[in-house]
This record gives sequence, structure tokens and C-alpha cells, in this order.
Amino acid sequence: MSDRYTETYARSIEDPSGFWLKAARAIDWDVFPTVGHDERGWFPDGRLNTCYNAVDRHVIAGNGDRVALIYDSPVTGTQQRFTFAELQHEVALVAGMLAGRGIAKGDRVIIYMPMLPETIFAMLACARIGAIHSVVFGGFAPAELAKRIDDAEPRLVLAASCGIEPSRNVHYKPLLDEAIRLSTHKPEACILFQRPQEPGTLVEGRDFDWAELRAIAEPVGCVSVAASDPLYILYTSGTTGAPKGVVRDNGGNAVALAWSMANIYGVKPGEVFWAASDVGWVVGHSYIAYGPLILGCTTVLYEGKPVGTPDAGAFWRVIREHDVSVFFTAPTAIRAIRRDDPEGEYLARDGTGKLRVLFLAGERADPDTLHWSAEKLGMPVIDHWWQTELGWPALATCVGLERSETLFGSAGHPVPGFEFAVLDQEHQPLDRDEIGELVIKMPLPPGCLPTLWRNDEGYREAYLARHPGYYTAGDAGFFDGDGRAHVMSRIDDIINVAGHRLSTAGIEQIVAAHPAVAECAVVGAADALKGMVPVALVVRKSRVAMDDKQLTQEIVRRVRDELGPVAAFHDAAVVDMLPKTRSGKILRAAIRDMADGKPAKIPATIEDPAAIDLARAALERIGFPRG
Ligand code: COA
Ligand code: AMP
Repeated sequence: MSDRYTETYARSIEDPSGFWLKAARAIDWDVFPTVGHDERGWFPDGRLNTCYNAVDRHVIAGNGDRVALIYDSPVTGTQQRFTFAELQHEVALVAGMLAGRGIAKGDRVIIYMPMLPETIFAMLACARIGAIHSVVFGGFAPAELAKRIDDAEPRLVLAASCGIEPSRNVHYKPLLDEAIRLSTHKPEACILFQRPQEPGTLVEGRDFDWAELRAIAEPVGCVSVAASDPLYILYTSGTTGAPKGVVRDNGGNAVALAWSMANIYGVKPGEVFWAASDVGWVVGHSYIAYGPLILGCTTVLYEGKPVGTPDAGAFWRVIREHDVSVFFTAPTAIRAIRRDDPEGEYLARDGTGKLRVLFLAGERADPDTLHWSAEKLGMPVIDHWWQTELGWPALATCVGLERSETLFGSAGHPVPGFEFAVLDQEHQPLDRDEIGELVIKMPLPPGCLPTLWRNDEGYREAYLARHPGYYTAGDAGFFDGDGRAHVMSRIDDIINVAGHRLSTAGIEQIVAAHPAVAECAVVGAADALKGMVPVALVVRKSRVAMDDKQLTQEIVRRVRDELGPVAAFHDAAVVDMLPKTRSGKILRAAIRDMADGKPAKIPATIEDPAAIDLARAALERIGFPRG
């Protein structure tokens, strides 16, 4: 632990308002806040514009010729670069396009678009005029998009006609039409960005062509918003089928991201930062769109995969070609690369240019992946921990403040601003090395969610009610003798599938709704590539004439159609009964253990011990455990 980190951390905890007001100087404000934090939240009397901070101010400072955005798309064979001046021009026009449709401050705009420069323009354009965007990931099915439309009640949807996955085109336009058919709230209009790979059909009177509107749009400037005004809503999996609308405010977000870029990631303005995620996730919001641009870095927008586009050398090519200094991805992506290139031959052959550090997050970084990447890259590999709700890392090795080193098994120290505790279920603090619930003392630092969209009660219930005075992160872990955190598992039914956060309860609801299913249990089972995959045990209703194969195929299809391909739900097994206690509680932990090939803890209160053998045999039949 360096003195610099220790001293910075201590200041952030002793005087949070003072600490973050000082950090706020990295941002250009219309009205500089006089108050750091009070009961109204962070920077309650500050005013600013996030797009101005990400774009315009760099042009005004004379850096208009510096590259802001590199679009690298192996799936279309395209590369494009936009300087800050070009980005300003594009964003001002898209903002003009929105304003031309009457969109103004506070209006919601859903962005249903893949990894295109226009997606970044759209996000920044909303920020420019004070509209609140909600980006929806393309791997979700129409029903999920419909839930988000109903909750956010957007006036407008900005969409692309298709996304491009290596194996197929994602039919965004028909999916969007279906979602609007399913939703109760109907957006006034949709603006469609037509991609040549698969143009979409416009619905007369509702849909408009992006290029046509852009051609007649007048550029629009930045409006001043309150620091507490929402910048975006991002939906994430909760413990039910209903997604939670995480709200991000303008002021806290800008300050936290600027601080994190310099102090956690250790980058400087003008350097190239690449987060290989998707704009549909929080990593894409914070570290593809806003964070790098606010600091004046070049950001990379990569429309491709770690492998198969065209090979396991793709990430290293991007890093080399675009002079990436700091790189961020999910452990699952490294596992995919290692699977295809175990000896790291692409790396050995071509190198990684200016890269100096790799950051991993999204799921627990397993020691094998850490060892492999640290050895093959020959540089520090930093596991760090955060979540959609927090918006930026809460546990990390702060490369800007302390020596960067690979830690095997730990996600690092608490980041300045985050005061952690490990509690038992009776709210009692646990000792070092004891596993308990990871909680963060309230108030959270800037940039973290102030609430859920139009659901203050849901926010309190989900995050604050469990341990008074603390934010419950939903993860279990411990701090070791050196004060480093080890994040071990979730305390709820959230699972992480290839870095994507899903609720098994949400999948269970879909499976249970199949007319032939009497009851079911869905758990997350270990998977060598994706970390975890969902698997279902299903009990058929009596007198249902459907063979097991047909039933499981229908269930798999349902989850894909209702939740989306991103769930990677491919496995279900039919059993005569589920392992349960005598009071009827399904033994999900035991099922999970069996799916992972571990000895299952069977309580004395089990209803029928034979259910255990049936479940184990059923899981084996469909290939579990698979490690
Ligand atoms: N739009 C539409 N569909 C998408 C999608 C998107 N943006 N992203 C993924 N999908 C689909 C895929 O096409 C696939 O569908 P299929 O069942 O028809 O093949 C399904 O969702 C699962 O995709 P994916 O998770 O990408 O699995 P994969 O086996 O194709 O690839 C990895 C495995 C590890 C290479 C891939 O998951 C990956 O790159 N993960 C990194 C994730 C990440 O960066 N997360 C952000 C956290 S920081
Ligand atoms: P998301 O909101 O999609 O970013 O998912 C957040 C969740 O992913 C966290 O609550 C953790 O369960 C998990 N997670 C993210 N990063 C890590 C990490 N470095 N180590 C362990 N779990 C992680």
C-alpha cells in the first residue's frame, strides 16, 4: 500500500465533501458547486453539461485535432477516426435532430443500437440537450426491450437497423417493432440509422430515417443542467424478472469518471484508452463513452469479438494499431483468447505496442486467467470490482496512486470514497479473513446511483434496507490482513454469464410459465469459458404428453425469445421431483453444487433424499459438471 494511496484514501473518508469538491475542479461547470454533499445528494447547487465536458471543452482548449474516437469494426471491415472537432460537429447535428423532433431536457430517449459511432453521438447528443438516455443492449429479446420502454416512457427511440454478430445479423428493426407492439407505452417516434448490411422497414408516420433528418438538422449547443439532473437510466438485472432502472446524475458522474481515469486507470489526456465492452453495459457508458472523453483521451469503439473476428489475435491487433495504453476487458474474453491461443502465439509474434496495464472486471478474475495474462503480457493485470449501480470501480489497485501489481485472488483496496465493511446477517462486522456481506457505508461517493428511476422505495428496499446505514452490494467476500478485498460470490440469485449479469429468478419465471412445467429451479453452473451458465431442472405436469427432448427444446426457445440470446441458456433437464425441504423450499444451493461436481450439502429436513440422486443423474445427462 503506497503512502500516496493511504493518504488519499484517508482524506476521502475524513472529508468527503472537501475531497470531491477539489476533484470537481477537473470538470468545467456553468456554476461551480459550493456544497459537496448534503441530503440532496452530490454537488446540489452545481450546474454543468456532460457533453460539453466530454467534447466541446477539448475543442475550445485547442485540442480539436486530437482523435477522440476510433471505430474499429472487424465484422464490417471498417475503421473510422473522429477528432474532437469532428465529434462536436456530429454530436451537435444529432442533438439538432432530436431537438427538431421536440425532444428537450428531461425527456427520455431509448437508444437501441450496436457498437457504432452513431451510438456514441446519440448518447452525447442526449446529454447535450439534457435528455435522459437509456441504452438497451442488443442481445435482449423484444419483451425485455418492452419492459424498459414501459418503465422509462421514452418519447423517442433511436435505433440502428441491425447489429452484426459473427454468426448472424441481429434484426434490430423487427425486434424493435415487436417490442413497441408489446409495450403499453408507445414512443412518439423512432429514428432509424440504416446499415447497408440489413436496412430496416420504416413504419409510416412513426419512423424516420436518421440520414434524412441529419441532413436537415441544425447544430445545437449544450444546455446547462443541474448536477443532480439524470444523465441516463441503465437497466440491470435485479432479483426478479423486472429490471432495475439505475439512475446516473450529471455532476457526480462527470467528477467520478474524471477522477477514476487519472487515479484508478492512471491515464493522461491524449492517451488511448480501450474498454472492450458494449455500450449497452455500464462499462460502455463509463469507459467507452464518458470517462475517456471527459479526460480528453482517445476512446476505442470495437465492433467485434475477442476470438473469431478473425482470430485470437484481434485484441492485440487493436491495441497495437491504435496505440492503446490502458486496456479493460472481462476475464471471460481472456479465457476465450487463451482457449484459441493457449501459448499466446499472437502476442509473442506481434506484441502489444504501448500497452502498460490490463484491467479486468465484470466477474471474479480466476487465478488461472490472471496467471496466463500476466505471464503472456508481461505487465500488471489488475482485477477490480464494481457494478452497474456504482458506475465506477469501488475496489481496485489505483494505478495512478500506487504501484501496479498483479494480485492473484484479490480485487484490491477500497477506492478512495468507498468505505467498506463486511457484515454478518445480524449487521455485525466480521473480522479480517471472515467471509460476509460486502457493504459500503452511506453516503456513497459521487457517480453512484442516487436512486432507481421513479422508484425511490425500490431503491431503499433493494440496497439500503438490509443493513441500516450501508449500501448492500449483493456480493459476499472478505478483507485479508493487508486490507485487500476478495470478492467471492453473490448473496442473491444474480449470476454472471460471460460478464453479463442475469437473474436466475427471472429465467425461472420464464421457464415456469411454460404450460407443461409444474415447477422448476434455475441455477448458475460453472463454465470454463463463460464463468457461469444457467441450467434448469424441470418437473413436468402430470398427464402432459410431450417427450423430454421436445419440452427442453421449447423451454430453451422460450428463454431465448423472451430474455434473449445473451442468457446463453441451452440446458434443461426433466426430473420427476426437485430436491426440497419438507417445508417446500427448493435446495438451489445443493443443485448448484451438484452441477459444479461438488459434494452437495443436504439438510436433514430434505423431503425425499431420492430427489438428490435424480437431480444429479439428470444434470450428468446434459453434461454437468463441465468445470
Ligand atoms: N447483440 C445481439 N446478440 C448478442 C450480442 C449483441 N450485442 N452480444 C452477444 N449476443 C448473442 C450472441 O450472438 C450469442 O447468440 P447465439 O446464441 O445465437 O450464438 C449469444 O448472445 C451469446 O453471446 P456471447 O456471450 O457473446 O457468447 P459467445 O459464445 O458468442 O462468445 C465470448 C463468448 C466470451 C467471446 C463473449 O461472451 C465475450 O466477448 N464476452 C465479453 C463480454 C463483455 O465484454 N462483457 C462486458 C463486461 S465488462
Ligand atoms: P454489473 O452490474 O453487470 O457490472 O455486475 C456487477 C456484478 O458483477 C458484481 O456485483 C459482482 O457480482 C460481479 N463482479 C464484477 N466485477 C467483479 C470482480 N472483479 N470480481 C468479482 N465479481 C465481480
